[in-house]
Formats: sequence, structure tokens, C-alpha cells
Amino acid sequence: MSTDGSLALRDPRYDAVRRATYVALDVPTWLQAEALVERFGAAVDGYKVGLELYFGDGPAALSGLRRLGKRVFLDVKLHDIPNTVAGALAAIARYGVEMVNVHASGGPAMLTAAREALDAAAAESDGPRPLLVAVTVLTSLGAADLERLGWGRGASDAQALVARWAALAASCGLDGVVASALEVAQLRRQSPPGFEIVVPGTRPSGAPRHDQVRSLTPGEAMAAGATRLVLGRAVTRAKDPLLALERIWEEMESVAPPAASGMPKDDG
Ligand code: C5P
Repeated sequence: MSTDGSLALRDPRYDAVRRATYVALDVPTWLQAEALVERFGAAVDGYKVGLELYFGDGPAALSGLRRLGKRVFLDVKLHDIPNTVAGALAAIARYGVEMVNVHASGGPAMLTAAREALDAAAAESDGPRPLLVAVTVLTSLGAADLERLGWGRGASDAQALVARWAALAASCGLDGVVASALEVAQLRRQSPPGFEIVVPGTRPSGAPRHDQVRSLTPGEAMAAGATRLVLGRAVTRAKDPLLALERIWEEMESVAPPAASGMPKDDG
């Protein structure tokens, strides 16, 4: 008998999509985050810690999630000179996170230093190296913003920049990129096999879109070649979060193409 209400979600047929999921803990305290984590119980083993929780209560949250045996995507989008980013990543590596990210626009020296810092930390601790993924062009930037930044004039320039920066990230030894659902198919085509494409901001069909105007459903994103999804308000703000997640996993599980995407496979 399930004590945490998540029995249906613990069905082994969801194991592959479970490993491809991070539920976003977009709250400012570990107390609030822990309540969400407890609600999902053993069914959810991956969580995203973003800037709000990191700056609100980071050490407690990261230690707490580690104690509970959860996988963590630390979404802090680092962007600084190579030496500073390397130092930050060496410190972050001590929390045993599964994945962390930096801005591709930090440039090749920063990306390479980031990868090397995580390699060194892993060698020192004898533990696994956290995956390192790059944010390309923030999806919040519109055509006018790109122009003011001197980054291009429209959607096709933005797309070209995403492609260019994703290729740069791969060439600097990064494991993947964070991308909007609409960029996934193009990135899958251009990227090496196994390159991670992490997608936030999807919306199940019929669910409130919040501020995500142009997005795909979680299943569509997986079908296009996403390897991992960050699920936020569509789950955490649903009337019944467990049921909302089960519907999403059902859809993801029915369309996921593990061979094409490099999605973590079930050995068993
Ligand atoms: O919109 P939603 O609540 O699903 O977002 C989930 C998480 O993904 C949030 O933490 C949000 O900051 C992040 N996100 C992102 N880039 C987007 C959309 C959402 O990093 N384009």
C-alpha cells in the first residue's frame, strides 16, 4: 500500500521518463520545496533547483535533496570569467548534483574551463562528473531585444545563433544544451548522438499556458528529440499534481524515441 499517494506513478513502465524528468522547485525556501518533494514521494527522483531556491535557501535545499537521494539539475546559468566560473563549479560539485548549466555566450574559454573544473572535481572526489549543459539564447528575448543586443534582427538570426552556440558548446566538451521545445528538432539534427537537449516550459494540451506562449506538449518535445524535460507549473500548480504528472508521463512514455534522443535507457 502506498503511503505517499504516488503508487500509480511508481509503475516501472514510467522508469525511463522518470529519469528524463526534473520537477521545478520554484519556491524560495527548502521548507516549501520539501513539502512538494514529500508529496511526490518515491515517484519523482529528479528536481530542478533554480535561482529562486538557490539564493533563497540553496545549501539547505541541495543538502536536503541529496539526503533524500534525489537527482538535481542546478539551473544557475553561470556567466563570468573562466576562473570564476571554474571556482563556482568546483564548489557546486561538492553537492553531488547530476547536472548544472552555464551560458554559452560566456565563450569558448569559459566553457572549456567549466568542463575542466568539473572533470577535476570528479577526479578528486572519485564520484561521477555532473553533466554540464549550456543555455543558448534565452527564450525571453524577442526580435527587438536581439537587435538592441547586436545579436541579430529576427527569428532566423536567433535560430542561427542557437545552432552556432550549441555547436560551440559541443566542441568545448559540454554534454548538451537547454533549449526551447521549438528548437529541439533542429538541435537534434545537428548534434552528436547522446548530446543532451534539456527542455523547460512545455505545456500539456489543454493545460493553462501561463507565460509560455509558444510551446509544445511534453510528448511532442520528446518526440522531437528532447532527452530531459523540466516540468514546472503544469505539475506543481495543478489541482492534483500527482495526476497531472501521471498524464504527462503517459504522453511522454507513448512517444519517446530513446534510440534517437540518447535518452537514459532502462537496462533491465
Ligand atoms: O513554465 P514552467 O513553470 O513550466 O517552467 C518550468 C521551469 O523552467 C521554471 O523554473 C522556469 O524558470 C524554467 N524555464 C526556462 N526557460 C523557459 C521556460 C521555463 O528556463 N523558456
